[in-house]
Amino acid sequence: MNDPNKLRWGILGAARINQQLMPAIVSAGNSELVAIASRRPGAAEETLSQYAPDQENVKIYDQPEALLDDASIQAVYLPLSNHEHGQWTLRAIESGKHVLCEKPLALAVADIEAIEAAARENNVKVMEGFMYRFHPQHIRVKEIIDSGLIGEVKSVRSCFSFLLQPARKYRLAESIGRGGGAMWDIGCYAIHAARLPFMNETPLSVTAMAKHIENGADVSCSGIIDFGDGKYGQFDFSFERARRAEYEVIGSKGGLKCHNVWAKQAETPVISWWTESGRQCVETLPAANHFQLEVEHFSDCVLTGKNPGLSLTDANTNCRIIVAALQSAAQGQRVQLD
Ligand SMILES: NC(=O)c1ccc[n+]([C@@H]2O[C@H](COP(=O)([O-])OP(=O)(O)OC[C@H]3O[C@@H](n4cnc5c(N)ncnc54)[C@H](OP(=O)(O)O)[C@@H]3O)[C@@H](O)[C@H]2O)c1
Repeated sequence: MNDPNKLRWGILGAARINQQLMPAIVSAGNSELVAIASRRPGAAEETLSQYAPDQENVKIYDQPEALLDDASIQAVYLPLSNHEHGQWTLRAIESGKHVLCEKPLALAVADIEAIEAAARENNVKVMEGFMYRFHPQHIRVKEIIDSGLIGEVKSVRSCFSFLLQPARKYRLAESIGRGGGAMWDIGCYAIHAARLPFMNETPLSVTAMAKHIENGADVSCSGIIDFGDGKYGQFDFSFERARRAEYEVIGSKGGLKCHNVWAKQAETPVISWWTESGRQCVETLPAANHFQLEVEHFSDCVLTGKNPGLSLTDANTNCRIIVAALQSAAQGQRVQLD
């Protein structure tokens, strides 16, 4: 019998990232894994046996459409390739499913607008999967900022990089237009993090520069988002630099730094802060699994009718900034966001 306290999930593809999300859905107390689809014979079964070996009665579909036709499924997790996100999110919404879509939600602002309209019309919840934001360390960062400890926030600098290993070069195989390259892979996080204290501000313009490879995919990029009144969000990401996953927030009276934005379950999250008056502190927080927290949050929103913590307006703004940054890097000039 269906448990009304558990959201019934289907997974729409046998992707590598299921290594994180499949156990998260299985472990979340308010969620149940009902089905998985893959267009490749045997791939769904293999993923299931690897990442959720103890799960019985999980249905296997050989086409995403068949999973969407299953009336017992309430929500889908969408881990397909970047260029498929927009179209499959729309199809899932039109099938009456709630959708947690991997980042980026879509590669064009018009696609996000279509998703916003369809979600309203079909009365379903849709969220872009920026899992990191569900880690308690970012909630603590917001608390510090809201307390006024570092004054009015004027600047953010977010940095994400690592050396892309040969086995991972598939991330550069597609052109930017098909969702390949560093921007759609890690740059979307860097831009999202650079907006963290400026969520209520309207971005005015973006300036960026990037290095591209032969097929047009970007491998490194640095840029600045202008939020007006001297408030800037700087982002820097690369597949060619040593590992960093951090952001720094500077206010009128002090600053703070989040040292490991991707903090995994086995890692201790650390935030440090300082003030002009000479106070300083290094805070360690309890470890957490942001994937599971993301799933639990989304299930809770659907089951109780709350709005997801990451809105479609947020997804729209992030996409607008990404598209403008790509344009700025290609044209070598600042791009206004009207
Ligand atoms: N939140 C995070 O921490 C995080 C981390 C990594 C990636 N991501 C995001 O998650 C999404 C999936 O990334 P991923 O690296 O897991 O993608 P992936 O393994 O390339 O899988 C993407 C889709 O491609 C198909 N596919 C997988 N392996 C294939 C193969 N060998 N040949 C042909 N098709 C294949 C699968 O669909 P079928 O099963 O239907 O064939 C799968 O759903 C992306 O949007 C990415 O941006 C998020």
